[in-house]
Amino acid sequence: MMAAAASIGTALRWHVAVSDRAFDRLLPSPVRERSSVHWTPVSVAVKAATWLMPEAGMRVLDVGAGPGKVCCIGALSRGGTWHGIERDTALVDVARATAELFSLQKNTTFCVGEMETVQWSEFDGFYLYNPFAAILFGPAPFDSNVRLRMLTDQIARTEQLLADLREGTRVVTYEGFGGAMPDAYAVANVERFGDTQLTLWIKHHAKRHR
Ligand SMILES: C[S@@+](CC[C@H](N)C(=O)[O-])C[C@H]1O[C@@H](n2cnc3c(N)ncnc32)[C@H](O)[C@@H]1O
Repeated sequence: MMAAAASIGTALRWHVAVSDRAFDRLLPSPVRERSSVHWTPVSVAVKAATWLMPEAGMRVLDVGAGPGKVCCIGALSRGGTWHGIERDTALVDVARATAELFSLQKNTTFCVGEMETVQWSEFDGFYLYNPFAAILFGPAPFDSNVRLRMLTDQIARTEQLLADLREGTRVVTYEGFGGAMPDAYAVANVERFGDTQLTLWIKHHAKRHR
């Protein structure tokens, strides 16, 4: 495991392509099995990292970080500081273990919690890969109306958190987050990966209403 992580780490640092099969072998099997549907592919994470970290030393938040794939790949390929907030404790344990395999304890941190428990104003960039879809399909014992209300509530809170961020903030969405980007964000780049769109948004001056 350590040898595989070392060669994957070296490849990512030198911008050599790494397959998802190789990377996902580092994850425990129940988490690995969810990868093709729930975790960002390596090539997408590398591109997202170049958009989120145009300069050295920036700070990025992965909103719903899962097993930490994006944060680890971002830190290896671009440096900087990557923080993952994730509500599922077991996934945070996996993220921390994966970061340790790559000796990334200084560049990455992972916390268990809801997305709004983090101070979003401390970050320069944000990554969102459809974090709330699981509310509709997950095992929560709620009926469909309650699920829909929870989803709408999470989306509205995300829109407000994004609206409050400072000018110049970068947000990368992969499959979106279910809501609309606030008006002050403009699309700065788009790339398609199969059927799925990766989009870079940058916050500009808020529009003045007279
Ligand atoms: C589609 S996965 C993406 C994982 C990771 N960002 C990636 O791209 O590989 C979405 C993750 O968001 C987490 N999540 C959903 N709602 C959340 C919330 N309100 N606060 C923290 N984590 C959340 C889920 O548990 C899940 O692990």
